Amino acid sequence: MGEYEQSISRRRLLEMTLGISGLVMLGGIGTALAQGLKRQVTPGVEKGPFYPLMKPLDKDADLTIIAGHKGRAQGTIVHMTGRVLNENGEPVRGAKVEIWQANTYGRYSHPNDPNPASLDPDFQGFGVQSTDADGRYRFKTIKPGAYRVTPDWMRPPHIHVDVSGRRDHLVTQMFFPDEPLNEKDSIFHAIGPDKSSALAKPLTPTEEIGTDVLLLVYDIVLARG
Ligand SMILES: [Fe+2]
Repeated sequence: MGEYEQSISRRRLLEMTLGISGLVMLGGIGTALAQGLKRQVTPGVEKGPFYPLMKPLDKDADLTIIAGHKGRAQGTIVHMTGRVLNENGEPVRGAKVEIWQANTYGRYSHPNDPNPASLDPDFQGFGVQSTDADGRYRFKTIKPGAYRVTPDWMRPPHIHVDVSGRRDHLVTQMFFPDEPLNEKDSIFHAIGPDKSSALAKPLTPTEEIGTDVLLLVYDIVLARG
């Protein structure tokens, strides 16, 4: 357990991050269940070339602090929270959720990343945790920068996600809402006509957690869980 887990309980974080709009969303889930609606399975998206070759020693849920470092990762703080569910909307407990991403400058801490942008020695870049009894996970990270793949292709900000449920394994990418680069991204386009399950849903942060952070809800639906 890192400092982050010790200082903010899951319940407290939920209260802080969900607020009124979150409660409305949870109400929507209840309605869907009551009507017996299947949830849309989260689309798989390519893993990309920058999954860590060697995972960091510190791989907890707070990617903004590396154990033993005095500094904090550069960039806009992101609280990313959500649930892993099956298509009936039932929580998947004990699912392993891994995330990895570029730093605020769009650079991965990976030897094969050709991007000349700066490395951030205080950014963890990778984190892993298991879902609780409600299927819930949460990470504290920073918003990744966009990065160029070819002269005419910039990847929009995104966070890579690898989920191992009890039966299913899913690799995907979480996209940020209202990013102009999303529409020009061939990987985003490949998701299909309905992009909603690939886009994080923003919530308005409370003053307590800080108005300069991003609160994002990103539920992950596995077909069987
Ligand atoms: Fe990427």
